[in-house]
This record gives sequence, C-alpha cells and structure tokens, in this order.
Amino acid sequence: MNAYIDISDVILKTPRLTLRPWRQSDLEDLYQYASVDGVGQMAGWPPHQNREESQEILNSFINKKKVFAIEYQGKAVGTVGIELYDENEYPQLADKRCRKLGFVLAKECWGKGLMPEAVREVIRYLFEDVGLEAILCGHFAWNKQSQRVQEKCGFRHYCLETYETMYGTVEPEVMNLLVREDWLLTGKGTPERNISIIGKNYFNYWSRIRFASRGLIVQDDRILLSYEANEDRWMLPGGGLEKGESLEECGRREVEEETGMLVNELQPLFTISEYYEDELYMTQYFECAVTDGGRQHLTQQEINSGLQPRWLPLEKALEIFSHHEDYAASDEMRRGLYLREYTALNEYVKRKQLKEDQA
Ligand SMILES: CC(C)(COP(=O)(O)OP(=O)(O)OC[C@H]1O[C@@H](n2cnc3c(N)ncnc32)[C@H](O)[C@@H]1OP(=O)(O)O)[C@@H](O)C(=O)NCCC(=O)NCCS
Repeated sequence: MNAYIDISDVILKTPRLTLRPWRQSDLEDLYQYASVDGVGQMAGWPPHQNREESQEILNSFINKKKVFAIEYQGKAVGTVGIELYDENEYPQLADKRCRKLGFVLAKECWGKGLMPEAVREVIRYLFEDVGLEAILCGHFAWNKQSQRVQEKCGFRHYCLETYETMYGTVEPEVMNLLVREDWLLTGKGTPERNISIIGKNYFNYWSRIRFASRGLIVQDDRILLSYEANEDRWMLPGGGLEKGESLEECGRREVEEETGMLVNELQPLFTISEYYEDELYMTQYFECAVTDGGRQHLTQQEINSGLQPRWLPLEKALEIFSHHEDYAASDEMRRGLYLREYTALNEYVKRKQLKEDQA
C-alpha cells in the first residue's frame, strides 16, 4: 500500500549533497538541466522546451511535497521523487508500506556517484524515519546507468513491465524492489555487485525472501568445497541465515560447521539473487581466509548425505559446476545449485583477474 509522504520540512544531508524541497528560486537550475537532450528521455519525458514548462513542473514539485531537489555545489542539479505506485498492479505488496522512487541528474554531473549517494540517503530516510517496509524502483531495460544506480543501492529484480512514455513510445521496463529486512542485513546499501538468476518457473513477483551466506575459500589455486559423497554433489560451504544472525556471522558459523575450519578473515564480495516460483533466494558470498582448529558440526541431513570438506583445484571446481545444464531433465535442484556456484566462481575469477591486471 502507498504510504503517506510529506517532505515539506525535510532536509537530508550527505557528504556532498543536500536533499531538500524545491523552491521557486530553483526555476533556472531546473530549466538548465531538464532542457538538455538525452536526460529526461531516459526517465520517460521529453526535454523541457521553455521556462514556462519548467515552471509548471516546479509548481507540481512544490505542491505535491514528494520530490527532493538535489543540491550540489550551490545548485539544484536533479531530483529524487518518492512517487505513488500503482496498487492494482502489485496486489502482493498490499500489506507493505511502500512507495516508488524516480530520479534524474543533470548531465554534467553524471559519473561521480552522486545519484547513488542521494538515493541511499532517501532510502535511509524512508526506512528509518518514515517507516516504509518496501521501495519499488524501475528503469527502462536499456537504461544501464539507472540499473547500476539501483544495483549500487541494493535493489533487487522484481518483475518485467512495459511503460508508456510521455513522448509516445512503449518501453520494456525492469521493476526492482528493496525490502527493509534486506537493506538492514546487507549493510544499508553498501556498494555491491548483485547477480540475478531468474528461473523459468518464476511467477514474475516474489513474496518471500530467504537469506544465506557462502564462503569462497581459495588457497594456492585450490578451493575448499563441501562434498556430499552419497550424492556425488559439490557446493561452496555455507547455508541459511538463522534468526538474529548477521550475514557475516552466518558465513563464519556455516563454514566452521561444514568444514571444521575457523574463519579468520571474511570479506563480502557480491550477492546472487535466485528467483524460483514466488521466492527470492539471496546468497551473500564472502572471500574467507581459514585455519584449522574449528569444530565440524553437521546436521542429520548432512551426515546422511556423507558431507565432507574437500580441497579441489579451482579449475576442476569450475569444470564440475559448468555442467549445470546436464541436470536440467533429471535434477532441477542440482541444476540450480551448480548454476549458482558456477556463476559465483566465474565472478570470483573475473574479479581476481581484474585485481591482478590493476596491480
Ligand atoms: C541514471 C543517473 C541518475 C545516474 O546517476 P550518476 O550519479 O551518474 O550515477 P553513477 O555515477 O553511479 O553512474 C552510474 C553508471 O552510469 C554510467 N556512467 C558514468 N558516467 C557516465 C557518463 N558520463 N555518461 C554515460 N554514462 C555514464 C556508468 O556505467 C556508471 O556505472 P559504474 O559506476 O558501474 O561505472 C543519470 O545517468 C541520469 O540522470 N540519467 C538520466 C535520467 C535517468 O536515467 N533516470 C533514471 C530513470 S529510471
């Protein structure tokens, strides 16, 4: 359900920005950036043709009390709008206090990370001060710039839509969603890479989110895996979050329980979001350094499957997981599991390579 919003007395500060209500004296700044070709079109509206048009929009910003001006170096250079979403389109969100974000930034300010900085602060305001439980945010499928802003702020894929623009085209739109629980667990919008794996049986919305942590433990080009001997099945050590636990605590506990190794250091790397039916499975991957001396503690199901820790050459692990599609007909669970681990290992290798190239 749409929550009530009134920002008329709200001023938010970030290291470089002030977010505040629009004022009549901002007209020239608004016209300056909104009349530039290639800005508004990315959000579905044509460039402003004259100051009268900008004046009309400015009046609506002031009257509707839901759009922040982004002030940077003394100028209004963009907006973050806390828009109403269409409740008929998303009946699954009826029990959540929700709004939808929209944003635009002056072209000369692009690429400095200003919008992620602004959006993260607006998200904090909405979750902490206003008490929202969920925030929607969409972008045209081709708008990679906006996609990156949303990814950096912690949004996850929700569904595919179409959007009718003010200049008469119909664009494919990706709608993302961020729920409060996710935002709290994943560090309040810390910049991160999130990879989506959307199953063929996805309902095009999710109503439940589950969290897990897994460890990427690589020493001398060998990786530590959990091996279920009775099933001949491999996976990265890790598992589901327990009540009251942080993702980091979950990672440390799961690695020790499954492998008997103690985690000394742990660095968050990226998340993978998997979508099956109406569920989202979010796994946080950590790079871990380990030593002996932990205590293995297996569940009955893990004992039954013959679970044991095994070091494998990284290349070999990649090869095993690359066969995910071989299980498409016989074992959907294993197909999904291997696809996820293959995606994670590839991302890890890509990052390692990038680091080495930069060194
Ligand atoms: C989307 C937008 C708000 C991004 O704001 P920003 O402050 O530049 O965001 P960032 O600095 O984090 O850059 C986001 C991505 O834009 C791309 N980018 C950076 N500088 C760029 C530039 N000068 N030109 C084009 N793209 C650029 C990069 O891919 C970057 O991702 P990266 O950090 O992974 O390299 C801004 O591009 C914009 O206002 N676009 C027009 C309106 C719009 O698309 N609104 C969203 C509608 S859903």
